[in-house]
Amino acid sequence: MKSFLDIAKSRYSCRSYDKKEIPQNLLTNVLECARIAPSATNAQPQQFVVVTKQPLIGQIASCYAASWLESAPAIIVACGNYSESWRRADGKNHCDIDMAIAIDHITLAAADNGLGTCWVCKFDVMKCAAILSLPKNIAPIALIPIGFPSEKKNYSERHLLRKPIEEIVSWEGYNF
Ligand SMILES: Cc1cc2nc3c(=O)[nH]c(=O)nc-3n(C[C@H](O)[C@H](O)[C@H](O)COP(=O)(O)O)c2cc1C
Repeated sequence: MKSFLDIAKSRYSCRSYDKKEIPQNLLTNVLECARIAPSATNAQPQQFVVVTKQPLIGQIASCYAASWLESAPAIIVACGNYSESWRRADGKNHCDIDMAIAIDHITLAAADNGLGTCWVCKFDVMKCAAILSLPKNIAPIALIPIGFPSEKKNYSERHLLRKPIEEIVSWEGYNF
C-alpha cells in the first residue's frame, strides 16, 4: 500500500499528456478529494469548472502561452469566490489559501490515481473569466491540466531541486 509520502513524492508537474480519456470514476474521485478540503471558517469558496471537450478546452488553453497545455484531455479551472471566503480582521482574504489547499488535494489525488497534473497560474485571467462568463466575484485562480502522462517520467529538472530540511525547518525558534 502506498504511503502518503509515496504519493506526495510521485506528484510532479506534468507538461505532456496522453490524449486518452480519463475514466469518469477517476475524475470523480479527484474532485471528491477537492470537495472535502478544509477552508477558513468552512466558507468553501472553491468552485471547479471541468473542461473536457473541444472547442472549450482549446479556448482555455489559449489563455496560457505554452502549447503543451492543450495536450491535456481535461483542464480543471479552479475558481475562487472572494465574496464568500473568510476575511480576517486585518482584511486578509483567505480565498487563495483555501484554493491552494483544494488544488493540492487535486494534484495529490490525481497522482494517487496515476494521473498527471500541473499548476498553471501564469495565464490570462481576464480572458479565461470572459471565456467562461464568470460572475464578477468569481476569479479563476489556476488552470489544472489533468490526464495520463505521455511518458513515464516527464518532469523537469526543477522537480528534483528542493532545499534541504534544515533550510526550511527551525526547531524551538527562528534559527535559520
Ligand atoms: C502556485 C503555482 C503556480 C505555478 N504556475 C505554473 C505555470 O504557470 N506554468 C508551469 O509550467 N508551471 C507552474 N507551476 C509549477 C512549478 O513550476 C513546479 O511546481 C515547480 O517547478 C516544482 O516542480 P514539480 O511540481 O515538478 O515538483 C506552478 C506551481 C505552483 C505551486
